[in-house]
Amino acid sequence: MEASGASGASGAGAQEFAAGLRALLDWLHVPGQGARNDVVALVQEVLGPAGLEQSVVGRELPPFEHVNLQTALDAWSAAPGRTVEVRGVALPPHYGGIDLQLLITGEGLPPVRLSAPAVADLPNGPGSTLACLRLALLLVTDDDGRYLVLVQGPGEHRETLGVEVAGLPVHRAQAVLAELDRLRRELNVYRGRLVEVTPTPMGGVALTFLDPPDLARDDVVLPAAVLDRVERHALGVAEHRAGLRAAGQHLKRGLLLYGPPGTGKTHTVRYLLGRMDDYSRLLLTGRSLGLVGSVADLARDLQPAVVVLEDVDLVAADRSFGPGGSPVLFDLLDAMDGAAPDADLLFVLTTNRADLLEPALAARPGRIDVAVEVDLPDAAARRELLRLYGRDVPLRLTDDDVTRAVERSDGVTASFLKELLRRAVLESLHEQDPVVAVTGAHLDRALDDLLDSTQQVTRTLLGVGAEDVVAAGDGAQPGLAPHVHHSAGYRAHRLH
Ligand SMILES: Nc1ncnc2c1ncn2[C@@H]1O[C@H](COP(=O)(O)OP(=O)(O)OP(=O)(O)O)[C@@H](O)[C@H]1O
Ligand SMILES: [Mg+2]
Repeated sequence: MEASGASGASGAGAQEFAAGLRALLDWLHVPGQGARNDVVALVQEVLGPAGLEQSVVGRELPPFEHVNLQTALDAWSAAPGRTVEVRGVALPPHYGGIDLQLLITGEGLPPVRLSAPAVADLPNGPGSTLACLRLALLLVTDDDGRYLVLVQGPGEHRETLGVEVAGLPVHRAQAVLAELDRLRRELNVYRGRLVEVTPTPMGGVALTFLDPPDLARDDVVLPAAVLDRVERHALGVAEHRAGLRAAGQHLKRGLLLYGPPGTGKTHTVRYLLGRMDDYSRLLLTGRSLGLVGSVADLARDLQPAVVVLEDVDLVAADRSFGPGGSPVLFDLLDAMDGAAPDADLLFVLTTNRADLLEPALAARPGRIDVAVEVDLPDAAARRELLRLYGRDVPLRLTDDDVTRAVERSDGVTASFLKELLRRAVLESLHEQDPVVAVTGAHLDRALDDLLDSTQQVTRTLLGVGAEDVVAAGDGAQPGLAPHVHHSAGYRAHRLH
């Protein structure tokens, strides 16, 4: 063979050398070696001379569609009259990806090889996964004849998901892709689920399934009128969907919950999300708020849907990187406006800085139909909160104990009262472990501790009125009270 550069060597050594060199050249696929790449050989055999003449038709999808594409392919492959054989393609690391066109011509190829198909095991529901092809050729035979589909999942060097069809006239290849689109939408694994939206390193959308919160109405201590209003706006439309549409009324709506930190805005949202189990639920916080544009499109596909935008004040002052650098908050409000009005879409926004939001909302009216204030609990609510967070605690409190605690805690938040009960249990544990009884004395000591003027930071964190802090003379500024992000208690399914 040509690979005889080792002419000086002899016998078995030379043969071994030649074989090694051939393997190396094969791997590198140096043109002119005459060694046909096995992937190219397969592609050429499947497509035949006529198929090789056809254009390759392809589509790029966002990475979170990988699991939907696989779901769609599984259904599509199982259709009567169609057989699909899957062949894996191996590509060494550091190569971004391959192109079906290159496999057809066999020129300028990266070193690809046939292999068992590599799969990514991706969540397709809370607590379940689906094996999704990473890089594979599907050898298809159906009414259209024999053709190829190349699936290429996102990877370290590839931000998108690719699907390409070869061997069919363009319009037939388009029909195949359209059918896969339809199945992706119809079988979308995110429909009806609660998912958290986070940004990928490249600024794309990543979705994680969350367990829906299980909160009863009684777990939310708010004035009845406030909770009624929230429920009516969020849940009421479902019953009258058809009636509203028939009367030409839009279904899209925006609900703003505003009020001091720790008063239950997130808590109320979690309660709603738990109840809206026939809705697709998309949760955005912090840095992911900038993704609201792509998420609004996704929500329309998944409708009826709720998009929760938590702590929107976080982006109120940010400016986008685009030309003009408009505030991210405006982009967010525009995305809400751009979504189809007849879609059953609910946007829920929360903030503890309504003052920062007001100018933006005034400049972009019509996005929010209902703004509900979630305020500090009054005496009756504080009593109720003590009962709620004391329900699993062996409380031995007299009426006077409770009344005293309610009076002393004037001006604190709901989350403060939850913490108060925890501290009272600790006080009791200091005396006896396991806990036997939590008495008025324990509660008083916990309150002394939490309201202690030397504990201003703790108090501010727990949301005692900011004026008190200033009155205590430590120079803290009410507007600069630290923004506390309580762990909202969602449980994420992160399987990777
Ligand atoms: N109204 C309420 N009823 C019952 N529990 C509450 C209420 N408000 C707060 N809590 C308790 O306090 C915790 C913290 O409250 P939450 O996270 O809802 O505050 P928030 O209003 O969203 O504050 P922030 O503005 O900082 O986001 C909740 O997880 C819940 O346990
Ligand atoms: Mg919150």
